[in-house]
Amino acid sequence: MTQRIHNFSAGPAVLPVEVLEEARENLLSLGKSGIGILEHSHRGKAYMAVHEEAEALVRELGGVPADYDVLFLQGGASMQFGMVPMNFLRKDQTADYLVTGAWAQKAVIEAKLFGKVHIASSSEDRNFCYIPQKSEFSASPAYIHFTSNNTIFGTQFAAEPSIPAGQKLICDASSDIFSRPIDVSKYAMIYAGAQKNLGPSGVTLAILRKDLTESGPKDIPTMLQYRTQAAEHSLYNTPPTFGIYILGLVCKWIKKQGGLTAIEKNNQEKAGKLYTYLDQSKLFKATADVGSRSQMNVTFVTGDGAKDELFIAAAKKAGLDGLKGHRSVGGMRASMYNALPQASVEALVQVMRDFEQQG
Ligand SMILES: Cc1ncc(COP(=O)(O)O)c(C=O)c1O
Repeated sequence: MTQRIHNFSAGPAVLPVEVLEEARENLLSLGKSGIGILEHSHRGKAYMAVHEEAEALVRELGGVPADYDVLFLQGGASMQFGMVPMNFLRKDQTADYLVTGAWAQKAVIEAKLFGKVHIASSSEDRNFCYIPQKSEFSASPAYIHFTSNNTIFGTQFAAEPSIPAGQKLICDASSDIFSRPIDVSKYAMIYAGAQKNLGPSGVTLAILRKDLTESGPKDIPTMLQYRTQAAEHSLYNTPPTFGIYILGLVCKWIKKQGGLTAIEKNNQEKAGKLYTYLDQSKLFKATADVGSRSQMNVTFVTGDGAKDELFIAAAKKAGLDGLKGHRSVGGMRASMYNALPQASVEALVQVMRDFEQQG
């Protein structure tokens, strides 16, 4: 087999080798069924077991309370940008958005199609390099939406934003879902595209309070009503079976690592190694403010675009891929999701050190 290299891609991203090996085994025959995982009917017993186990593992890992639905949806997190307001925002209502990056901006664009939007806080004034400390909420928002980790700008909420009691908090957790313990009961809804911390692209996890599931309008397309998906356990139509299968394997892997507390410790160690190096480097500089730094996506620059390119090329030569920063920040971005091994971060720091020493 071709040697695997260090993959710092922002998503789709590195998956645990154990998961890929198990999936490989089951491509030709899921267990002893004689039919590969990709080929099983979504209504058959074999797939149903996969589906139910994936949901049970999400519930167990996330400590998801019984009054929440766990849904496996399609259309990516971007579909949720539209589905959330389509279901929970009426024309005469206002939803509050915390705008901490490009994905939040995209969510706002969709919300404006359905109702009014109040920007409760924004860090756009400094190209989203920080998480605002305070937000100003509207009088009675339909919900409050935030992005827990800003994949492009390398910032992350250290904890949930504080919101007025009784308000509904909705989170796009696409790039830090299950990277640390989460208290689901603080949220009305959490959603995440799977392709960073949970599996492949093509499946989106949504966890939402059952009373909310039921509250949406009935005059929108059936597929876009949360109640449809909840009533049918995400099996209203053919679900992304392979994605849900891999998501289940990834959750099983997280559980084996010791659950979300152990995963968080591992992620903190990885990010710590890179930030520690960055903070003493005379060449590289982290772009996010210290108190707002992401554990998942570390963005950094040399301050010289040509030098950044040289570094990315040197890293590629050393077997490190996916380090080019998003064009809106430039420089480099090291995405270090759950499955990225410590050894990959160590290799990155070594390449940075060598590059810096060579001048
Ligand atoms: C925080 C965040 N939200 C939303 C998205 C969009 O996700 P999708 O491509 O699944 O629509 C991304 C993709 O990188 C993201 O990082």
